[in-house]
Formats: sequence, structure tokens, C-alpha cells
Amino acid sequence: MAIWNLGSINADLVYALPHLPAAGETLAAYSLDKGLGGKGANMSVAAARAGSRCSHIGAVGPDGAWAVERLMEYGVDTRHIASVDTPTGHAVIAVDTAGENQIILFPGANRALPEQALGIALSEADAGDILVMQNETCLQAEAARMGRDLGLRVAYAAAPFDAASVQAVLPFLDFLILNEVEAQQLEAATGKAPQDLGIKDVIITLGAKGARHFDGETGAVRDVPALPVTPVDTTGAGDTFTGYVLSGLDRGLPMPQAMALAARAGALMVTRHGTADVIPDLKDVQDARF
Ligand code: RIB
Repeated sequence: MAIWNLGSINADLVYALPHLPAAGETLAAYSLDKGLGGKGANMSVAAARAGSRCSHIGAVGPDGAWAVERLMEYGVDTRHIASVDTPTGHAVIAVDTAGENQIILFPGANRALPEQALGIALSEADAGDILVMQNETCLQAEAARMGRDLGLRVAYAAAPFDAASVQAVLPFLDFLILNEVEAQQLEAATGKAPQDLGIKDVIITLGAKGARHFDGETGAVRDVPALPVTPVDTTGAGDTFTGYVLSGLDRGLPMPQAMALAARAGALMVTRHGTADVIPDLKDVQDARF
């Protein structure tokens, strides 16, 4: 099977700082690193490194050829990345000494993908393939509807959280993944807990406490613990977890195994500085000792 990812592609500008800046504060960075990122690109790289065939659907501007080349080097199918006139998206990321971050996003080309390009890409998908989206592009609702019509398993990572955007895709979802804060925000917007929205699989990530899966068919609830690591940079760890879970499901693993593998990948990821460029491959994840 395959994973189709309608997702963002960003240049990540990562500033290492003594602490996250307060309003009105000027702060000198210890260092600046540039790399490939975007929640979408991070998930595509994670899924490809976990062993899946992953096609990225997205857009870059005239300044984005390097990002497409890098995705290709990392094993992602880049044939459905459009070139548009808008500059490539970027993220300004502040990381403190505890590994926590703060992100400013410039969406750029990510929000300029033509609908026709989405249709052309998904016309190659087969029933049973996975379609995943996040909230850094345009066309999520259109993609979700197309995915449902084509018999794909439609997955959504509700980040960055926006209640209206999640509600627009809810009727089409088979799989929803979100963190605790996003789960509370969604409950405030809908009046229902995410697991009560009629979605087949819901995962709520709980940071250092692991992740919880709600099986919408059986009502079973399963917890997968986090692994004990000292984080240096948490940026992209959630994306890595999602990419690995979806790859596990794509490769036929039962949900508990897919989540356990994803927890290992996420744990390894927080011990590394950077985003898409440092997402661990399956061998690293399997061999890691925690
Ligand atoms: O989730 C981390 C990602 O968020 C970064 O790579 C950045 O580009 C933003 O999209």
C-alpha cells in the first residue's frame, strides 16, 4: 500500500536560545541551523524512513528546489510537489536549553497548492491507501472528501490547531491524532471528547506520559508509554511519531505495535537537534537502547 501526504514543506531556521523569548525581549542566539522541515515534510520523511512508500503532495516556490531534492534523497516520492510563484514556506524556531520550542510560521507556497494538482495526485491512489493531512496547507477539506470518495483511509493530525479546520474534515476521518491541549480545544469547540466523535481510530499524545489510543469500533483504550530519554530538542518529534504510526499501519502492523515503534522513533528524535534531516530510520529505531 502507500501513504499520500498533503503536507507543508518549510525551511526551518532553528535558533538555540538560553530561554524562549518573552514579549518585547531581545535575545541573542547561541547558534543558527537551517534545515528541511514542515509538519508535512517531517511526516513524509518519517514514513519513508520507516519503510513505507510515501508520496508528498505539496508546493514550493521558486526558492524551493533544494527542499524537493532533499525529500527525494530521503526516499519520498516528490512527483506531486508543485512549483508555484509564492515563496517556499519557512519556520523560525526558537529552542531553549530544555529542548522546548516556539515556532513562527510563514505558510507561503504551502497555501498556494492548486486544487487541480491535488486531484491529479490522488487519481493515482488505490483504495486502502492512507491519505494524511495536517493544518499547514490549503485544501484539507477537499482532500479529505476526495480521499473518502476514493476509499482511502483518511488521517488528520490536528496541528497547528484550528477548530474550524478540524471540524471541516471530521466527517471524512478514519484516524485523528492530536495532543492533550488540542484534544481539550477540540472538545471545547464540539462539546464532545475526540474519542466520542465517531472516528475509527483516535490517538491522543501525552508528551512524557506516552500516547493513548481509542478504538472507535470496540471501545478499547490502550496506553503506550513514552521511553525515558533526556530531550535536547522536541521539534518534529510529534510528526515523527505520526509518520511512524501511519507507516506501521500501512505495513500491516496492529495498532499497539505501530504505536510502540512510533514511541521509540519519537524518543530517539528528541535526543537529536533538527527536524526532517535527522528523523531516525527503521534500523536506528529498532536498534536503539533506552
Ligand atoms: O512540527 C515541527 C514543524 O513545525 C517544523 O518543522 C516547522 O517547520 C513547523 O511546521
